[in-house]
Amino acid sequence: MSSTLLQSMTGAAPAEAAPPWDGGHSRPNGKTVLILGAGIAGLSAAEQLTRLGFTVKVLEALDRAGGRNFTARRGTVITELTSSGATAGQTCAFDDGLYINLGPGRIPYHHRRLLAACRRLGVALEPFLMQTSANLYACGSGDLRDLGPFGGVAQPRRKIDNDTRGHLAHLLARAVAKGTLDTELEPSERKALLLLLAEFGDLNKTDYAYEGSTRTGYREPLSVHQQIEAAPPIALPQLLASEFWRHRFYQPEEYLWQDTMFQPIGGMDKIVDAFTRHLRGRIVHNAVVTRIELLRDGVRVTSVRNGKVTTEQADYCLSNIPLPLLHTAIEMRGFSRTFLDAIGMIPFAPACKVGWQANQRFWESDKYQIYGGISWTDNLIYQLWYPSHGLFGDKGTLTGCYNYDQAASVFGDMSFSQRLAQAREEAMRLHPEFADRSLVPDETGVSIAWHKVPHQAGGWAFWNPHNSEHLGAYSTLLAPEGRFHVIGDQVSSLPAWQEGALMSAEYVVRQLLGLERKFPPAIRNVPDSYALATGEHAGEP
Ligand code: ALA
Repeated sequence: MSSTLLQSMTGAAPAEAAPPWDGGHSRPNGKTVLILGAGIAGLSAAEQLTRLGFTVKVLEALDRAGGRNFTARRGTVITELTSSGATAGQTCAFDDGLYINLGPGRIPYHHRRLLAACRRLGVALEPFLMQTSANLYACGSGDLRDLGPFGGVAQPRRKIDNDTRGHLAHLLARAVAKGTLDTELEPSERKALLLLLAEFGDLNKTDYAYEGSTRTGYREPLSVHQQIEAAPPIALPQLLASEFWRHRFYQPEEYLWQDTMFQPIGGMDKIVDAFTRHLRGRIVHNAVVTRIELLRDGVRVTSVRNGKVTTEQADYCLSNIPLPLLHTAIEMRGFSRTFLDAIGMIPFAPACKVGWQANQRFWESDKYQIYGGISWTDNLIYQLWYPSHGLFGDKGTLTGCYNYDQAASVFGDMSFSQRLAQAREEAMRLHPEFADRSLVPDETGVSIAWHKVPHQAGGWAFWNPHNSEHLGAYSTLLAPEGRFHVIGDQVSSLPAWQEGALMSAEYVVRQLLGLERKFPPAIRNVPDSYALATGEHAGEP
């Protein structure tokens, strides 16, 4: 396929020159910058600064760039630290051409910096399907013999969604019609509200009854003899007993996960590849930073590379190193107590994923008719993602778990094979096909616990607006200490998102150029990491 044709199909534009804010400042006159960590913020800052004329070097502890932007395909090694401090690895054995994004997997349409970077760097995008009405919700206790309120049959999203709407609209319409809300409503509003509720819930327009809706699908498959009839509704007591709303069912309604979402064609790490192509020769791999010293007019960094200790100095240092590691694993010299305390204050959240290869796309069969999107469960795996690409193909990969919280701590503590056994059993509530090991083999299953990956501290920085100490720490970290700046989604209003990484990199680059004040104005609140990463609110009743 010609590249022009591919671009017109996928929306990727030819590489552009520079972001709009790039210009109107003095040249850096050979100033040097050391960037610690080749995560997305580090790569983006390095790319911007190089273009602006700074002399940039990136020190990366791993043999790959990207940080949490990590895609597994055939031959990818996933390394984790064990409790004894040793490392253990899995090698991905997917068929050629298959991949799974183990870190970020989707880009919201309003993440304009990241979408612009993809355009600028020539990364071709395709839609990421966040939800389809055929996706499922399964519930029940950990014991598979417990059939739960749906009798052991996972229910399609369209039924749960529309039947809930129908029942709620019916209850409210009945209350309005009975005059229960007369003190709240003008007579004209009452009439309009009843009309709205009838449409909203697909109610019977004479008595506002909810008897099911064709929005949930049909009772029987159609034939010339079988005309359309609405499927019978799930009863309200069953819906309530399932507690579906407690298990991320409404996450796709949140702004961060609304249509349209995108993914790079071929894997999220195409973004990393595009950045690194621009940074050839500037990234030093396997360089583990051990000491950072603040100098009067610069920063000195010591790192160990294949057993060799190297110390180097630069005018500026931008650290993309996860804050908990900066706090515990690196000797910090010359920093103020306030800055060090801020660095040490923010924990990272545990988060796990599982990737399966399925030798047949059984979810696209007549039985399920699922093309992309996510099915939800109330158990340890939380969710099952279907591929948004390769539809109607032969094989495909599934994200067989994406969890956080206590579930991720428990899951992460399991051995690699225990994780797969657990994920398989829980996925069987959604698709009994998971019992067939020739269809979904163990040999091609992989998992990751981000809080166990060397040089990572977890899924995302866990800022908590209810913790009064976090506010001071966030403000402190937005300002440089001498010529040392912290960067990354960890110090942005979008933790857990690549857009946050780009936002932070842009902010610090602008500080270096004198286009942004060094000390931020008073900040009213810190990011609510839990809500931003999960769509849920911590501490909900
Ligand atoms: N960015 C992460 C997600 O897509 C939090 O769920």
